[in-house]
Amino acid sequence: MKNKQRIGILTSGGDCPGLNAAIRGVARGAYNLFEPEIIGIADGYRGLIEGDYKEMKQDDFRGILTLGGTILGTSRRPFRNMRVIEDDNVDKVANMKKNYKKMGLDCLVCLGGNGTHKTANLLAEEGLNVIGLPKTIDNDIWATDVTFGFHTAVDLGTDVVDRIHTTANSHGRVMVIEIMGNKAGWLSLYAGLAGGADVILLPEIPYDPNEVIKAVEKRTGKPDRRYAIVVVAEGAFSQEEAKMKRKDRLAIRAEKHYPSVGYQVADMIVQATGLDTRVVNPGHYLRGGNPSAYDRVLATQFGTYAANLIHQENYGQTVAMIGGTIGHNPLSDVAGKTKFVPADCSEVQSALDVGISFGVKKVK
Ligand code: F6P
Repeated sequence: MKNKQRIGILTSGGDCPGLNAAIRGVARGAYNLFEPEIIGIADGYRGLIEGDYKEMKQDDFRGILTLGGTILGTSRRPFRNMRVIEDDNVDKVANMKKNYKKMGLDCLVCLGGNGTHKTANLLAEEGLNVIGLPKTIDNDIWATDVTFGFHTAVDLGTDVVDRIHTTANSHGRVMVIEIMGNKAGWLSLYAGLAGGADVILLPEIPYDPNEVIKAVEKRTGKPDRRYAIVVVAEGAFSQEEAKMKRKDRLAIRAEKHYPSVGYQVADMIVQATGLDTRVVNPGHYLRGGNPSAYDRVLATQFGTYAANLIHQENYGQTVAMIGGTIGHNPLSDVAGKTKFVPADCSEVQSALDVGISFGVKKVK
């Protein structure tokens, strides 16, 4: 255990509420355990590649527990291009290693989602001391029960569904609500379940258009219930589309001028039923603003746990919630895997039990 360590921190990929709380957790935890020198790296891996960073002081971590976004800035730097020399002729991996050395780091803390973890693991394989912290509203990081940012987004998504209920009822409309989540449908599942949606469509359960229409007609066909709420995950697709490559699906959607899947589903409902239908897409709203109390607690716990790992020089790990307890997993186990919604999970079962349709005859 070293009593002094120089720690670099970066936040990478899509932002989410709780990033600042986690940064604060790492910093405060570290100041509590040893004498850290903390370097804030700007805009995720961009700052590490380009050498854009600054020394931070203890005061920089005050007053950020409740603040949304990230004080460090973030950017998307796709993992698939990390080893590719592009037009700018920059060797990104070599630059990151060079800047790590130049900063005199003992350890690099990477807060991010799946892409961030893949690059974090690459850097660990290249010999750097790296620790990951799992953030994303998608909740799709492997081997952690939950990621910070998810529950705030669930609260916001639920509020959208709740509010849409009343206007849908007034007008007797079908409201299609598109919720972020390109690969995994956790957010749609939770917001749909919490908001009492009639139909939830997830990437993990490709839908049958006939079953979606049947469910909508069943809901709207009653004198006392003239409306239906359909929650569609951003990455949902039909059983027919499941046979295609993603890029072909998106090309067909673009050809038909659907801005996103919600519009495609709404059009399908209108064509089949003639029902008055609208689309609501809260989009990045779900990533904005202050973290919920749950996420503040989780991000703080993850952050202080990371500080402990650093103190113990236990690098090459990512922090996780494992069976309700904060722990860690090797970065190499987590990188490159996605935690999808299992069709047989208890949340899907409960949704089915309360009569929510997943747009299929039988979930399997
Ligand atoms: O990974 C989080 C997420 O919000 C996904 O749900 C969504 O598909 C994606 O990011 C959107 O990315 P961007 O912010 O680059 O538009």
